[in-house]
This record gives sequence, C-alpha cells and structure tokens, in this order.
Amino acid sequence: MAVGSLSDAPKDLLKEIKHLEELFTIDTAKLKEITHHFVDELAKGLSVEGGSIPMNPTWVMSRPTGHETGNYLALDMGGTNLRVCQVTLTEQKSEFDIIQSKYRLPEELKTGVAEELWEYIADCLQQFIETHHGDVTKMDKFPLGFTFSYPATQNYIDEGILQRWTKGFDIAGVEGRNVVPMFEAALKQRGVPIKLTALINDTTGTLIASAYTDPKMMIGCIFGTGCNAAYIEDCGSIPKLAHLNLPPETPMAINCEWGAFDNEGKVLPRTPYDIAIDKDSPRPGQQAFEKMIAGLYLGEIFRLVMVDMHHNPEAHIFAGQDISKLRKPYSLDSSFLSAIEEDTLEDLSETLDLFETKLNISPNRAELGLIRRTAELIGTRAARLSACGVAAISIKKGYKSCHVGADGSVFNKYPHFKARGAQALREILDWPEKTNPKEEDPIEILAAEDGSGVGAALIAALTLQRVKDGNMHGILHPENFK
Ligand code: GLC
Repeated sequence: MAVGSLSDAPKDLLKEIKHLEELFTIDTAKLKEITHHFVDELAKGLSVEGGSIPMNPTWVMSRPTGHETGNYLALDMGGTNLRVCQVTLTEQKSEFDIIQSKYRLPEELKTGVAEELWEYIADCLQQFIETHHGDVTKMDKFPLGFTFSYPATQNYIDEGILQRWTKGFDIAGVEGRNVVPMFEAALKQRGVPIKLTALINDTTGTLIASAYTDPKMMIGCIFGTGCNAAYIEDCGSIPKLAHLNLPPETPMAINCEWGAFDNEGKVLPRTPYDIAIDKDSPRPGQQAFEKMIAGLYLGEIFRLVMVDMHHNPEAHIFAGQDISKLRKPYSLDSSFLSAIEEDTLEDLSETLDLFETKLNISPNRAELGLIRRTAELIGTRAARLSACGVAAISIKKGYKSCHVGADGSVFNKYPHFKARGAQALREILDWPEKTNPKEEDPIEILAAEDGSGVGAALIAALTLQRVKDGNMHGILHPENFK
C-alpha cells in the first residue's frame, strides 16, 4: 500500500479529501491561463500607468563578467535572519571568499519601532567589523551592498523608498520613505564609517551571483519566507523610464515583486483559506500570489484547513481532542509540512509523532491520510504556481532555453518542490516528455549562488565600475563612489 493510502478512510472523510483536492489542484489549462495573464501583467508593471506587479528598476545595468575583484561588505536583511558578510572577489575568474555572521532578527522588531530596527542592524554590522577587523575607523574603504528584500522604488541605486512592508513586517514610519538615510544615521551615531554603495533586492542579488558563475543564468528567484524574481530587461521595453532617454538596448535588472501578482483577484484560484490568511494579515489585499506560495504562509494554510476539518461536521477530525495548540495562528511553519511530506513510513507514524509532540493531538489512521494529502496539495500548488511566474518571464523575454537561479528555504528544503515546479513548467510550455531522464530541461531551475552575500558584493563592484566608466545614471551620491 502507498504511504498514507486513503483506501480505508471513512466515506465522509474521503468526501472532504476530494473537496480539498478540487480546491487546491491547478490543472494544466489553469496554469496556462495564469501564465498568460502574468505575461500581460509584467508588461503592465513596466508601463507608465503601472499595475499590481511593481516591476522595480534596480539600476543594476550589466551582468558580471566573472573578472570582478575586491573586498566588499554585504548586509542582508531578509525575512528571518540578519547576515553580515565580508566578500572577497578573487583574481581567479568567478571565485570568491566569504566570512559571515548570522544574527537572529528578533520577532518583536518586525512589528516594532523603526529606530530600533536600524539600531539593531547597525549594532550587528559594528559587532561584525570589530570582531573581524578590530578598528572600525579603517573600514571606510569597504563598499557596502545592502540587501533589503522588500519592494522599494529606486530612482537611484543608493536609495530605496519602501513601497510597502511584506512578509509580515509592519513597522510604522518607514513606508513611503527612503530607508538609506535612516540606516546611515544609525551607523553614524555609532561612528561606523561605512558608506552604502548599492541597495539591492535578494532576487537581483541571486540573479547576479548566479550569472557570475553561469552565463546561462537569466532569472533569479527566491522561494523562501517570501516569493519573488528578477530578470534583465532592456530600457527600450520600460516605458516608465522613457523620460530618462536611456539608449533602448541598455540592460536594466528588474525586481518584479511578483508576490503582488493578481492582487485584484482575476485568475488565481484562491480558496477560503487563502482569503482568511489575507484578511488577517497586516496588509490585506497585498501579495496575493506570495500568500499562496511562500514559506511564511504554507504552514498557516495547512493549519487553517486542519481547524476547519475539525469543525466541519462531516469530517470532524480530532473529535474529542483538545486542539488549543493548533488554534494558534502561524504556529506551524513550512518545515512542519516538509516533515509530513518526508514521512516515508507506510503507517505515517512519523507524522503521528509530530502531531503528538508539537500539537498534543493524536490523529487516527484515516486522519493521518488526510493530513498527508493536505500537505501534498498545499506543497504541490505552491510549486506549480511558482512555475507560472518563471514561464511568464521566459515567454516575455523569448527565452527558449536558459537557467534560472533559485534560492530560499522552500526551494532548498521543501520535498519535491523542484520536481513539481519542473513538471508544471513542462506542462505550461508544452515540452515533450524527456527521452532520457538525465537530459536537462530547456529551462532549468537550479540552486543559485548566494545572492545577498556574493550578489550584493558583485552589484557594489558593478556599480563602482560603471561610475568609473562615466555612466552616472541612477547614482544619487557620487561622492560616495570615489
Ligand atoms: C517578498 C519581498 C521581496 C523579496 C521576496 C523574497 O516578496 O517583497 O522583495 O524578494 O519576499 O525574499
């Protein structure tokens, strides 16, 4: 019998499972419909009127050659951790050395006061420099790439006006403002003489870091706490930059911020669980696509299904048990779903253990089957939807064959995510079945190089080089580039 086989489940439970399958399954036709709309929305985001997807120009205007060199600092403010790196791009082509420290981003800072966030970040940077270099005053020659992975308007590479917080952050007084002076003020207060060279997004960093070692890399994606992608557009296809009169063939990396795809609810088959997540989030109506895919939400979607199946009189799972632990919002993260999908035991006893230890619930045999199927449905839907974004960029750019660099906890750790995404891409783009399983797909999604470390350093290097070459487009503080 297959793992978690449902053949012995009671009739009512089978009916509920079938209903969940209908809610969460996205067939090929729907994938194609979503992708089609996605292609239009990418173009709309680049237009003067704009659309849901921000399509932010990043002022990253070239690909790395592999010959970039020098010492850089990289600061990464992701959704979960804060990381400080010193990156050395060595003389050897496409090689680098990295020293790094990770700091936990305290949960309360994510919804706290802006000053405390900047002070915490500045403290971590100062601590890193003191540990590795002793004297902070000698550091002013190290250019800094700051990976700030939220939607930001960049009229210049050394500014970032936060459009809105995503990934559960909700810090007052930052949206609509340039975060660079706030960050620099905190550094100045501590006497840390670092100057910011480039503010970047993790997806752009991922694209550039991966392109450093692989010339076939055309798209950078993050499937982690959040979900997003970047690619390189030509300025002639960016009407909202037309007033700058850049030569039409000039390359410009675009941070899509595709998490906002279909905020208006035209094509995504949202379930009542997705709608509930959105309603109770700090930014209802935002990040519709991301809320169906990203690691921050997968466990929560699952939790909501479980609570619903408990109250549903037909399913009535965990009858008579205390489900108070399960009632706590965001108490299950995506690693909980990963663990369920990784249970290879026929009786799903690892899943049973997990429920007993983490939730104090003992599911029966049939309920375990439903749990397993729910995890599969949520994980599969996320992977298949994410393929729509990759397919849309590839169609827009006419890429028939390329590499896509992907990073993030969901991509790297969630079981079958890669295979399910690749299968969906095959369906959307109508590739014939492989004759040899070892053969590469025309568009292959691969594990990326470290975008917010090496990528941030590379982008700082490319920016300095560009200024040296006299291309001052998108530079706000030229004095910092001397
Ligand atoms: C969210 C952010 C975006 C980031 C992504 C992955 O979607 O808005 O900037 O790239 O998460 O971290």
